[in-house]
Amino acid sequence: MGKSEVKLALAGIYARTVEASLDRIWENVFDWEHLDHLHESSFTRCELIERDNAGWRVALTFKGGAPTQIIELRADRVNGQYVSTTLAGEGAGTEIRVMLTPLAQHRTGVQVEFHLPESDKGRLARLAEAYRATYERLWDEDEAMMRHREAALAHPRRTVPAGASIDLGTVAAVRNALPLGFELSTVPFRVVELDGALVAHATTCPHWLGPLSDAQVEHGAVRCPWHGYSFDVRSGRCLSGQALMLAAAPTVTVVNGRVLAVGRA
Ligand code: FES
Ligand SMILES: [Fe+2]
Repeated sequence: MGKSEVKLALAGIYARTVEASLDRIWENVFDWEHLDHLHESSFTRCELIERDNAGWRVALTFKGGAPTQIIELRADRVNGQYVSTTLAGEGAGTEIRVMLTPLAQHRTGVQVEFHLPESDKGRLARLAEAYRATYERLWDEDEAMMRHREAALAHPRRTVPAGASIDLGTVAAVRNALPLGFELSTVPFRVVELDGALVAHATTCPHWLGPLSDAQVEHGAVRCPWHGYSFDVRSGRCLSGQALMLAAAPTVTVVNGRVLAVGRA
């Protein structure tokens, strides 16, 4: 069925304010890469089909085993609006229309309309509730990311001077507290244990400054929760194909039973 033949009904509206600037929100809207990582509570897989200046088209797999959907996003930045359309899969024809209204420097009004290819009133009401719950969760996750990113962007990135050091405590105390976050020259790091050795790594992702402080370490790699890029903890090298490196981390040594983190020369 062609798009023009789909009869849509407005099932419901979800409106809120988001504590982030309009710029941050547009950045997030165009950022298809975060869908199956930041929103892993909703989506298990997102593959880009194509993108251009006005949006993107992806194959998106929802949690719970439903068949993959093809979703297209088209943005009208001048008028502060965008539409995501389900082109194929369950609910094909659905249009989610979003209006953005800047309210303050770091506050934006968001209104989301759910236009569904459905005529049964009871089903529309049930779907509207489900959509509202999903969109509340998605926007909560987006807002947390945008606020964190906005705060991180406001701080100049620093490097640790060679020889700067911090005493992290006794070996026993540090091992008990792993993974242990600390700052050296105001730069945040974390100590983890790899094959019995204590190793430090930067906890700011070099991509969009995402937080690695609580990220899982598996097989010597740390994976960012925002877009899923992973980095070798020891070398800082990106393992997922991007030309990125973690910031140089201090060396971790044990001197007289105490664990020291020392800035590299
Ligand atoms: S901020 Fe994008 S992968 Fe870390
Ligand atoms: Fe999002």
